[in-house]
Amino acid sequence: MRTRSSSAAGSSGDRRASPSRGTRSPDVPEVTFHLAPAGRAAVSVTVADGMSVMRAAVTNAVPGIIGECGGQAMCATCHVLVREEFLDRLAPAGADEVDMLEFSVSGRDEARSRLGCQIHLGPALPALEVDIPASQYS
Ligand code: FES
Repeated sequence: MRTRSSSAAGSSGDRRASPSRGTRSPDVPEVTFHLAPAGRAAVSVTVADGMSVMRAAVTNAVPGIIGECGGQAMCATCHVLVREEFLDRLAPAGADEVDMLEFSVSGRDEARSRLGCQIHLGPALPALEVDIPASQYS
C-alpha cells in the first residue's frame, strides 16, 4: 500500500501517513480520507482489490477510523461520509448497515453516511473520497 497526504489549506497540516511521489495508477484502487475538522490534511491510500475503506484506514493509521468490531457491521466506529460525487457509484446501504449507522456518535447523514467496513475498493469502485466524522466515540 502507498499513502500520500495533501492539505486542503495548502499547509503541511497534521498527518500521519507518509507522502508518496508520483501519480496514481488507474489500476490501483485508492481512497482519500478528508480528516476532521474540515481543512486538515487529506490522506490518500492505495489498496489491494477488495479491501474495505475501514481496513485501508486502520492499516495506514489514518486518524478517526477505529474499526472496533473488525468489520462485522456491529460498532459504527468506521463511520464515514461519502463525498457527493461518489454516491452514485455505491450500492445502497443494506438494512443492517442503516440500523447500525443510527448508533454513530456524530449522527447519521441520510445521504452520505456509510460504514467504512461495508465499502470495498476494486474494479467496480477504483476511487473514493470520504470525510471522517469529528468523533467515533461519545
Ligand atoms: S468496523 Fe465495526 S461497524 Fe464497521
